[in-house]
Amino acid sequence: MENLMALVLAAGEGKRMKSKYSKVVHKACGKPIIKWVCGTSKEAGIDETVIVVGHQADQVMECLGDGYQYVWQKEQLGTGHAVMQAEDILKQKEGLVFILYGDTPLITADTINKAVAYHKNQNYIATVVTAEVDDPSGYGRIIRNSQGDVQRIVEHRDASPDELKVREINSGMYCFSVKHLIAALRELKNDNDQGEYYLTDTLEILIKKGFKVGAYVVENPVEILGVNDRVQLYQVSEFLGKRILEKHMKEGVTIIDPGNIYIDDSVKIGVDTVIYPGAILEDGSVIGEDCIIGPNSRIISSHIGDRVQISSSVIIESSVGNDACVGPFAYIRPESRIGQNVKIGDFVEIKKSVIGGKTKIPHLAYIGDAEVGDNTNIGCGVITVNYNGKEKNKTIIGNNAFVGCNVNLVAPVEVKDNAYIAAGSTITEEVPEYSLAIARERQVIKDNWVIKKGMKRDD
Ligand code: UD1
Ligand code: CA
Repeated sequence: MENLMALVLAAGEGKRMKSKYSKVVHKACGKPIIKWVCGTSKEAGIDETVIVVGHQADQVMECLGDGYQYVWQKEQLGTGHAVMQAEDILKQKEGLVFILYGDTPLITADTINKAVAYHKNQNYIATVVTAEVDDPSGYGRIIRNSQGDVQRIVEHRDASPDELKVREINSGMYCFSVKHLIAALRELKNDNDQGEYYLTDTLEILIKKGFKVGAYVVENPVEILGVNDRVQLYQVSEFLGKRILEKHMKEGVTIIDPGNIYIDDSVKIGVDTVIYPGAILEDGSVIGEDCIIGPNSRIISSHIGDRVQISSSVIIESSVGNDACVGPFAYIRPESRIGQNVKIGDFVEIKKSVIGGKTKIPHLAYIGDAEVGDNTNIGCGVITVNYNGKEKNKTIIGNNAFVGCNVNLVAPVEVKDNAYIAAGSTITEEVPEYSLAIARERQVIKDNWVIKKGMKRDD
């Protein structure tokens, strides 16, 4: 949007989080709180966002990266003082600035747009975003005159008993004409209970000069919820999580028990996929169409194709091809690529391996640092012996191979296309194409051994 910039206040200390980390880098639904705020301002069409940093500024800047301008508030002398720090940037601007808090992630683009439109339509110089709440304690109160015009904002601690009864509160978000904001900031004083420069006082300054100041009441008061402690972090996460789930449901994903799953903001899911309770989908995972994400599955930073079925399994930084089936109780570790139509069954662990299309690894196997071809069968209990105590070595298995049950493949080793390996073998050398490898003791039968040794068990 032209001539509209955003200013995000994020210099405060956030003591009540009891954390080593800046309050605004704590995550809600997998995304740092301040990224929710900045993302929303972008979504509202605002191209330029300035962040006021102070406490743990390095963490905030690292979290948001280069796409923003930062100003430094050395000492936290109040919300008005925070905005003053951006004066050099504001001075070069015309038009409007929208002020947001870095710890208030539920604000929506729709509300920003509506507040800006209201501000413009009413020809206000400043518009404060407000909410009507049942319990206004702690918040600044909006004081209106008998005609309903905003007069000023009074902080809870500075309010008279009558003012304390007001249920319309200041969200801390505003739309200002830049020029008039700068003029008002220059007149701010800190003669209040806390000795702080209150941004809220700029409204009264502007009103006294005869300018029109308005209040835009949000439709859903939840949007102004801020995060001051971990209980509120949980509360905002719950609202954000609900929004995420509803977005997926509206876009064609079936979620069987929305109260019982977790999906990061960054996750994408195709239509007609069904998600069972206990699923945790995180960190940029992409799930295709018509999948069944079964109970208790955790999928992190992974790419899942179409028509994949996953049950009670963990998949991390890997990809799974179309029509594959994973689990129950499989563990797919980073850098694995599971091909199309593959079956990875129960108690199978795959690490840093490529598994070709149609290959089956149905039960109780460990496949690490391996390349397995297409249409190969890996029997129950097969182990790639990839670690010799010092280094990791590679196992290569070709196409159409058959590896019998309980085979050890001592890496580095290669099994060529179309080879068979007898059950119980410990393979240390290459198995050539179309051959059978047997690497185990031949069976010995000792006739009547039980009787001769007096070992009969039914005496
Ligand atoms: C402020 C408002 C209050 C409003 C409430 C809504 C003022 C004087 N009061 O109160 O009317 O109802 O928000 O949540 O504005 N910050 C800085 N630098 C500072 C001080 C604060 O960057 O020097 C940032 C904080 O990081 C935070 C935001 O500004 O993101 C709000 O500061 P906080 O101290 O929580 O304001 P409140 O006292 O809650
Ligand atoms: Ca606050």
